[in-house]
Amino acid sequence: MSKKILLSGVKPTGRPHLGNYFGAMKQFVDLSNDYDSYIFIADYHALNFIQNKEEMKENIIGVLLDYLAVGLDPKKVTLYKQSDISEHTELTWIFDTLTTMPYLMRAHAFKDAEAKNKEIVIGTFNYPMLMAADILLYGPDVVPVGADQKQHVEITRDTAEKFNRIFGDTFKLPEPMIMKEVAVVPGTDGRKMSKSYNNTIPLFAEYEEIKKSVMGIVTDSSGELPQNVYAIHKLVRSEDELKKIYEEKKGSYKEIKELLIEDLEKLIGPMRERRKEFEKDIPKALAILKAGGEKAKKIAEAKMDEVREKIGINLY
Ligand code: ADP
Ligand code: TRP
Repeated sequence: MSKKILLSGVKPTGRPHLGNYFGAMKQFVDLSNDYDSYIFIADYHALNFIQNKEEMKENIIGVLLDYLAVGLDPKKVTLYKQSDISEHTELTWIFDTLTTMPYLMRAHAFKDAEAKNKEIVIGTFNYPMLMAADILLYGPDVVPVGADQKQHVEITRDTAEKFNRIFGDTFKLPEPMIMKEVAVVPGTDGRKMSKSYNNTIPLFAEYEEIKKSVMGIVTDSSGELPQNVYAIHKLVRSEDELKKIYEEKKGSYKEIKELLIEDLEKLIGPMRERRKEFEKDIPKALAILKAGGEKAKKIAEAKMDEVREKIGINLY
């Protein structure tokens, strides 16, 4: 029996941290064993907020190296970039002609963006239509996303239904797969680990950087355990073991932190070194992305041909 299809997009934004790893990247790697997977870099999405040639290039290559380094296997996953497949933007236009403004104005992401700044670009407003095209071209069964993206997958389903109703059955309705938040990875200050809070442990940190981040974890001794240290530690060592160790070393935060540094290095070290290997041969990494694009393009082209036929513009 052929495997079910999985598709997701990742934005090329800066340096990833442990929260991104456990909350998203690792899950894509794990899921790729069970699904025929398509993962793409959403560079046309990113154009809404990265308008700088060097930064764009750097971020696209960066996210490509990140995913290869965490073990995404190009044999199992078709890895490509959105802008290589012009059908994504072509289909977006068609969806634009079927979707009303009041409907898109109900999207949470739009409302949040507008609340911060009235002068939002049309690309941000219209982004759910591009996302619908990203998804529907490939007919995936599941779309793994963070909880904040659930509404966009619902919009995608509505858009597919609307097209199917008007022009006949064309698109398969995908199911959102809300990724386990892994109980939200906490940062060094106990709040959610996030770029915007400056409390991250970078995923590809050098040893010295891991040490510095761990030494900077705010130790809160009000409970039985130093909560913030423990919460990060349990990502990399079983709780059974940890309970014993923390009991034995009660009061000695320095020793506990030293152990956490070593445990993090065991996880991070090999990925960091693998990333350096890929970094030495960027043309090779780009060739993987290009080949993925060629494979994805064939699927997108076939679907787009069907769409053109259905709407009545395929004349020769
Ligand atoms: P940030 O908050 O650092 O800007 P993003 O919003 O770019 O992170 O998140 C990218 C992905 O990583 C999303 O799928 C999100 O759910 C996941 N993620 C980010 N931070 C965490 C965290 N602290 N714990 C779990 N998952 C996270
Ligand atoms: N919107 C997603 C995010 O902000 C990224 C994305 C773009 C995506 N297109 C997609 C995710 C298609 C799943 C499917 O993280």
